[in-house]
Amino acid sequence: MSHVITVHSDLSAGKINRNIYGHFSEHLGRCIYEGLWVGEDSAIPNTDGIRNDVLAALKKLGIPVLRWPGGCFADEYHWKDGIGPREGRKQMVNTHWGGVVENNHFGTHEFLRLCELLDCEPYISGNVGSGTVQEMSEWVEYMTFDGVSPMAKWREQNGRQQPWQLKYFGVGNENWGCGGNMRPEYYADLYRRYQTYVRNYGENKIYKIACGPNVDDYHWMETVMREAHPYMDAISLHYYTIPGEFWTQKGAATGFSNQEWFHTLKKALHMDELITRHSAIMDQYDPKKRIGLIVDEWGTWYDVEPGTNPGFLYQQNTIRDALVAGLTLHIFHEHNDRVVMANIAQLVNVLQSVVLTEGDKMLLTPTYHVFEMYKVFQDAERLVTHYSGEDYELDGEKIPQISASASRDATGKLHVSLCNLHHEHSGEVSIQLRGLNGTIASVQGRTLNANSMDAHNTFENPTALEPAVFENYELTGDVVRATLAPMSVTVLEIVEG
Ligand code: AHR
Repeated sequence: MSHVITVHSDLSAGKINRNIYGHFSEHLGRCIYEGLWVGEDSAIPNTDGIRNDVLAALKKLGIPVLRWPGGCFADEYHWKDGIGPREGRKQMVNTHWGGVVENNHFGTHEFLRLCELLDCEPYISGNVGSGTVQEMSEWVEYMTFDGVSPMAKWREQNGRQQPWQLKYFGVGNENWGCGGNMRPEYYADLYRRYQTYVRNYGENKIYKIACGPNVDDYHWMETVMREAHPYMDAISLHYYTIPGEFWTQKGAATGFSNQEWFHTLKKALHMDELITRHSAIMDQYDPKKRIGLIVDEWGTWYDVEPGTNPGFLYQQNTIRDALVAGLTLHIFHEHNDRVVMANIAQLVNVLQSVVLTEGDKMLLTPTYHVFEMYKVFQDAERLVTHYSGEDYELDGEKIPQISASASRDATGKLHVSLCNLHHEHSGEVSIQLRGLNGTIASVQGRTLNANSMDAHNTFENPTALEPAVFENYELTGDVVRATLAPMSVTVLEIVEG
């Protein structure tokens, strides 16, 4: 099967916002506790309570932005319970996620310390569902007030004199569901009210994010945009990829069929239609695209691993997840005129994670490797790219076999990423580079592939799947011909001479 990808290296389609490579960490299962936070007294080596092995791995991803504390947890979270001496912090029951006791040891100071260590922007989700306007307002004051104020004084008493820089603030999460079961008309009014008291102090300027729709709830998008668009900088969208028809029959993370492989990828591709249609609604109220669309929850959602707490959403991560990550990131690249941030769910031990832990052990998932290989796209100029080729067909259904994206980075290097979605066919790809500055001086590549659909890393064999040098290509003039293995994600670096 042959496939042609034309890359217009002289036609920029705008910057790929690095925040598209964002992540999400919720007080859910073993994401925060165990996955990130072990506490200062832990035998697991840590920096200010945050485990060093996970920190080192995450630093290599160049994470631009991290969302916290939820998720559904955000609308049950009362930030004042999570500050001050840890021994005295109030305990609560995490009713949404497994009914476990939350000791509030990881709170505002710990999260913002984590962001400092990762050198990433914090994105905080405020509580609209069960919190007050005053509580939200005071949280922002606590974090960002520069000068004398009751909250700034309290912050200082808790060991932090300097305010933090906080840009991204979400006014509620999933307020159509776990965040209060609201109607969009009601939420839009609440949004207008709550956001009024999310103040800018000193130099700190908050970028306000409204709660947007679930999947294809176009009515929610239409209503919230109509009623509240002048008061927001961005609006969110949530979409999870489940292989099955129903949430009650999602399917397993490993040991799945060809059909489940195919349907997972087909459903991941649905992100394109969702963004296109939501963006068209946004265009009616915001034709100049001032307001960003933030896909602040996305990724695969499978049945939990057998024997684990159903409320902890712990799942394995295979080469299938790597493909979902690769092609979804391509969709975000394509929509870089509207999509300004995305946050894969979730960072560690929950849903489509980049890192899994077990006690003092840690492994990097195939999804991690895609984020690491794709780092080169952060803030790069997207290049206009066209693809034509035969489809991948299964049981009479079709999806494109190859997904591709291309960019030029700040140093002038070109990058082309290629996903071969087929579970058994390789892909013969001809990449035609138009409008080059001279000739191609060098091509290098890395690839992630596997021999079975559910190949994954385990704590016994944590490096079963790792990127390898890609050598299956030849260069003729300004054409790179490559053979992509089945089930593979490949990134080529092309330097002009
Ligand atoms: O990521 C898991 C959950 O999915 C989040 O808490 C919620 O916002 C969404 O329904």
